[in-house]
Amino acid sequence: MRKEAAPSSVPSAAAGTTTLGKLFICFETKTLVTTLLALTLVMFLWNLPPYYQNLLSTTRPCSVPITSVSVSASAASVTASLISTNVSMPYKANPVAKKYNTATRPKPKDPNKRVFESYGNAAALFVQMGAYRGGPTTFAVVGLASKPIHVYGKPWFKCEWISNNGSSYRAKAYKMLPDWGYGRVYTVVVVNCTFPFNPNQDNNGGKLMVNAYYGESQRKYEKFMALEESPGSYNESKFNPPYQYEYLYCGSSLYGNLSADRIREWMAYHAWFFGPSSHFVFHDAGGVSPEVMAVLGPWVKAGRVTVQDIRDQAEYDGYYYNQFLVVNDCLHRYRYAANWTFFFDVDEYIYLPHGNTLESVLNEFSGYTQFTIQQNPMSSMLCLNGSSQEYSRQWGFEKLLFRESRTKIRRDRKYAIQAKNAFATGVHMSENIVGKSLHKTETKIHYYHYHNTITQHQELCREYLPSTAVKQVTWFNKLPYVYDDNMKKLANTIKQFELETIGKQPQPEPH
Ligand SMILES: *[C@@H]1O[C@H](CO)[C@@H](O)[C@H](O)[C@H]1NC(C)=O
Ligand SMILES: *[C@@H]1O[C@H](CO)[C@@H](O)[C@H](O)[C@H]1NC(C)=O
Ligand SMILES: *[C@@H]1O[C@H](CO)[C@@H](O)[C@H](O)[C@H]1NC(C)=O
Ligand SMILES: *[C@@H]1O[C@H](CO)[C@@H](O)[C@H](O)[C@H]1NC(C)=O
Ligand SMILES: *[C@@H]1O[C@H](CO)[C@@H](O)[C@H](O)[C@H]1NC(C)=O
Ligand SMILES: *[C@@H]1O[C@H](CO)[C@@H](O)[C@H](O)[C@H]1NC(C)=O
Ligand SMILES: *[C@@H]1O[C@H](CO)[C@@H](O)[C@H](O)[C@H]1NC(C)=O
Repeated sequence: MRKEAAPSSVPSAAAGTTTLGKLFICFETKTLVTTLLALTLVMFLWNLPPYYQNLLSTTRPCSVPITSVSVSASAASVTASLISTNVSMPYKANPVAKKYNTATRPKPKDPNKRVFESYGNAAALFVQMGAYRGGPTTFAVVGLASKPIHVYGKPWFKCEWISNNGSSYRAKAYKMLPDWGYGRVYTVVVVNCTFPFNPNQDNNGGKLMVNAYYGESQRKYEKFMALEESPGSYNESKFNPPYQYEYLYCGSSLYGNLSADRIREWMAYHAWFFGPSSHFVFHDAGGVSPEVMAVLGPWVKAGRVTVQDIRDQAEYDGYYYNQFLVVNDCLHRYRYAANWTFFFDVDEYIYLPHGNTLESVLNEFSGYTQFTIQQNPMSSMLCLNGSSQEYSRQWGFEKLLFRESRTKIRRDRKYAIQAKNAFATGVHMSENIVGKSLHKTETKIHYYHYHNTITQHQELCREYLPSTAVKQVTWFNKLPYVYDDNMKKLANTIKQFELETIGKQPQPEPH
């Protein structure tokens, strides 16, 4: 939340900008300059920033209302809807007077008048993770914001394009809170800025500025540069098909002590499943250990995988390693990178039953913006009692062959989306799209979920069922299981594919 100090010679303590704002109100310019010089001198002598605040609050020459005036909230911003201005000079944001309420108030004379002194700032107004162009006229700014402010207040946003040629245009902004109320201290906010035309048509470049307001009032806000386009960098062809990939995988936050073996198997399977025109984006929230990186490394080298380091997200308390933030960032970062963007986890394996091909299924679904995919839960410990099997050398999906078979219950779903038609997204589906959603997809595509296998470092096979379990329902921990070897049948193909694509990999240690 710290921001840059106002451009002056006054050394900046945390309260620097506020104090400056008040000074402006209190003094004539001449007096101000003198005071600033005096302060600078005193500061120079003392050179102890912590005393700065004390100094100012004890020598305050006049008392002013604490709410400082935001000089840059100009008259033009009163108009709510779209306006474009044509400033002849390069735009200069006035950085003065946007911090509130850090200095001590004078004691009131009335002993019954109580004073509320606040210190510090517990959650930021906005934490930007990414800002992306979402087409010729539109942008998305993805970030976190203090949750109570959005739940109990009415904060809003405004966008402005400052062209390098001196023109500036304002755009209406609307916000989406795509995390279903799961946020904690922070909630996810996607700000959509849409202009009536391309603000960088001449390709001279420019900046997208965002005003983030604290509440309904337009006087309290923070202004920041969300995105910059350098001269000549705009290329419209990016927004038209064909896209770089057919399929993109957006993984959510990876955390915990992940098993490198399982990641290796997942990666080999899906690199095969989605084929050469696909790309995988992982988000490392602490889960990509050196061992995990070692199995992803060859795929990164082959250009199939990108690993983003998002470990700094830990400073912001959102829902589960900020996974809603991460999927929205990925959606907008790669909005025009692929025909279809898939969202699911690294313990889930997409499967096409009845010999369907991915291409034929997606051709069939192409009239929909999104489709959801139903889960088939697999046991994380049941294996067949076969003494001939060397389970420690087998892959997870090669030996975990028992599917929990209850019907008529609601199962978790994951989804894929034509990202260009989505404005924000969730973990199980998107609720901010144009176009239709399809949910009846079970006969075309589903996924196997190997819950509780991904952080398991011991042997997975921990309960053995007799060979009769292949033909009949087995009850285990009060749940029915049936034999399902669809994944096992692909194991040799996947291993061969891995070998041919990235070469011989070290054998995992037997447990
Ligand atoms: C902005 O002003 C310049 C110079 O007066 C003019 O050439 C240009 O067309 C104006 N642009 C807009 C969008 O009004
Ligand atoms: C600046 O560029 C925009 C489009 O990118 C154009 O509409 C506008 O007229 C330009 N302004 C000047 C002063 O050249
Ligand atoms: C714009 O992108 C397309 C496709 O990526 C490329 O072929 C073209 O050369 C680019 N145009 C410019 C002006 O860079
Ligand atoms: C992806 O889009 C391109 C261009 O629209 C199309 O030719 C291709 O068949 C699509 N591929 C898939 C798998 O949907
Ligand atoms: C912003 O919203 C508009 C209108 O709903 C939409 O057309 C546009 O694609 C959205 N932009 C982004 C980047 O999501
Ligand atoms: C992760 O698990 C492995 C295998 O059990 C263990 O050797 C390692 O110390 C664990 N790492 C952490 C950070 O807990
Ligand atoms: C597993 O097989 C072995 C010998 O093949 C047998 O002794 C053992 O009882 C079997 N266990 C179960 C649970 O079927």
